[in-house]
Parts: sequence; structure tokens; C-alpha cells
Amino acid sequence: MTKPLRVGVAGIGTVGAALIAQVAAQRAQLTARCGRGIEIVAVSARSKNKNRGVDLKKMKWFSDPVELAGDDSIDVFVELMGGSGDPAKTAVEFALASGKSVVTANKALLAKHGVKLAQLAEKSGVALNYEAAVGAAIPVIKTLREGLAGNSIDRIYGILNGTCNYILTRMEQEKLSFADCLKQAQDLGYAEANPAFDIEGHDTAQKLSLLASLAFGTKVDQSAIYVEGITSIAAADLAAADELGYRVKLLGVAVKTPQGIEQRVHPTMVRKDSSIAQVMGVTNAVTIDAEGINPITLVGPGAGGAATASAVLSDIADVARGVKAPPFGRPTAQLTSVRKAPMQRHEGGYYIRLQARDKPGTAASIATRLAEQEISLESIVQRHPKDGPSADTAKGSVPVILITYATSEDGVRKALAAVGRDKVISGRPQVIRIEKN
Ligand code: HSE
Repeated sequence: MTKPLRVGVAGIGTVGAALIAQVAAQRAQLTARCGRGIEIVAVSARSKNKNRGVDLKKMKWFSDPVELAGDDSIDVFVELMGGSGDPAKTAVEFALASGKSVVTANKALLAKHGVKLAQLAEKSGVALNYEAAVGAAIPVIKTLREGLAGNSIDRIYGILNGTCNYILTRMEQEKLSFADCLKQAQDLGYAEANPAFDIEGHDTAQKLSLLASLAFGTKVDQSAIYVEGITSIAAADLAAADELGYRVKLLGVAVKTPQGIEQRVHPTMVRKDSSIAQVMGVTNAVTIDAEGINPITLVGPGAGGAATASAVLSDIADVARGVKAPPFGRPTAQLTSVRKAPMQRHEGGYYIRLQARDKPGTAASIATRLAEQEISLESIVQRHPKDGPSADTAKGSVPVILITYATSEDGVRKALAAVGRDKVISGRPQVIRIEKN
């Protein structure tokens, strides 16, 4: 039998510890599936003495991950440190340049330096695998790169951040505050070190940039993505969505349009009976619309130690088997630059919540401004609070909720700017895009 694959792991946090435990638990099965053993022979982390609940005694210890990356005692370097800068970047570059395959869960590194790292892997003839970087245990990278290698993809969209989906689910189901739900997500280990990264949509954007590259054969380009997070979502929006037959999800969407590729991350209204609306809690989901076949939706655990380690281990197994695909689905020379579709040209339905002056003529004035931009309304509801007039109502304003038919983003922005100038509303309008699904 071929010699065991010798693995070096840099970063032993929740994912690293789960990986070590999983390799031990699955030893016989992995050997049978890969035709050779998989052994973690070396590790690197910040603190040698921390108790991580796993036995590291038989593994060679490196305090410098870059040294581990270039060490001859390993065949594959697993990077679980995170971050787009050093030491992760230098360590991965060093491993690839010294002819070692790399497995990483690091979406930030790939979103920023993915193409250069793929070029380096290509030059050295080694693998650069990153299944864990998007959707943790969901095999979405392999699905796009291998399973759908023969299909043209029109659109890919998904719930790519467990923390945000957890928060929105808890707010909707338990009527809890945003802050309480975020705290719970942090306590459960779903959130990034800086949770602003999750709730402001950047984590989703990094993941979307990788999916878009795989789906459309473009260079990874996070700067081409329009990003809005979930911090402005209020209980009033979740309640209104529920009444109107929708749920609010933070979606990452990449879609082919006549103007180019539209890539966007924002809170989105999805119909309650759609597959994506059923996805609750920390669970992630990705829907792929490919030409000639019905949409494919993959659903699964998108964050947490065991879920992420599961994907890391599948990538290590590929290296053990000698399976190697181009990191972004085609040779890097074949990746094209993104032709970015401007967000102003986005077309779709919109949910708009306004705090409107409670006087005759207000609705007519708002409707006129929308009509000037050729925006057609599917519904308009003036929502008096169920428990009687609120303080706002007493002050002479009421919430008004509008649902538009498909229209342009530019038209909506112009119409709402005009409504603001008319002084018939107070505060900022809440706008949530509706995604067809
Ligand atoms: N903070 C991320 C999430 C972890 O909540 O989904 C997985 O990337």
C-alpha cells in the first residue's frame, strides 16, 4: 500500500482540534477510501500548552507556521489560522512554492489572493483545496467545480453566513433583540473574531466571490460585490415579511445579466414557500440555477468546528487519492476579469417601509413619486400597530409598507429621494430587495 499522507496543520482552534479528532475517529475508513493512511504528523499554534481536548504528543511541534509549511516531514500543509495577511499568506505561499499541496478554510485569504495562489499551485503542480471556505460541511466547491463542470450557470445564491441566519431566525421565531441573538451566536462559536464582519455582510461577500469565480470562470474579485449587512433589520420588517408571505434572509447572489455579472450581498425577502426560506438557524444553503436542469439546492451546517473540519478532511482525502482540480475550475490563464453589472441597473421587486405623515394626500404624494419613476405597486399597506396607536401614531405618523413589481434600483433610489424632499416621511426609508425563487 502507498505510504500514508503526512499532514501538517497550522492553527489548532475549534476547527483544528475537530480535524485532529476526526482523523483519529475515521482512520480505518479513510485508509479504505483513499487507499492509503492519513496521518497528522506535525502541528503549529500560538500556545503549546493550551488544553484543546486532543492529544498532540506524537506530533512534531512548530512555533512558526511558515517553518512547518516548508518542512520535509509533511506532504500537505493545512492552513487553519485565518486572515488574509501573515502568517497565513506567507505560510501558504511557502508550502505551494516548496511543492506541497495546501488545504485551507481561509476565505479571506482566497478572496484577496486566490488567483495568485492558484497560479503558484499550478506552477508547482500541486493542489490548492478550500472546500471549507464556503458553507463549511456543504460540498459546494466540489459541486460547482466537478459536479457541474458540464453546465453553464446562470445564477447562484445562498445563505452563506451562519451567524446572520441564526440571528434572523431567532429574531423572527423568539422575538428576541438583535443584540441578544448576536451574543448567543458568539457564545456558540459561529461568529468571526470580529462579528461586524458577519453582520455587515463581508463574510458572505468573501464566500460569494469564490462561488462566482467557480460559477462564471471569472477572477476572484471581492471589490465587484455590492454589500449591505443585516444591522438595519428591525422586528417590524420581520413581522411585515411574515404577514406578506416572506422571510428575510441575508443572501449572497451572483447572476449573469446583459450588463455583466451582478454580485450582491444584502438582506433579501424570499417567499416563505421557497427552499431557501426553510433554512433556519446556523444552517447554510446554496441554490444553483444551471442551464437545462432544475435548480439545485444544497443545505447543511455552515459554521462550527466539526462542520468545517468535515470539509477540510474531504480536501485532504482528495490529496491522498491524487485527485487534483484547478482551484477555480479552469487554468488561471482562462479566468476572465469580472464585467461588473452596476447595482443601479439591478431589476427586481422591492419592499419599502416608510414612517409616513398621517395626513390626507400623503399616500397620493408617495404614489406620484413612484409613478414618476414608472414603479408599479403590488401592494400598499398602512399598518396601524395592532395594540392601538403607538407614540409615533400619536405624533401623527404611521408605518406604510409598499411592495413593488419588478423595477430598477435606480428608479427606487430616485423615487425615495423625491419622497424625502417632499417631507411626507420621517427617518430613513427601509428598503429590502425581493429575490425571485
Ligand atoms: N462566521 C462564519 C458564519 C463562520 O457565521 O457563517 C463560517 O465561515
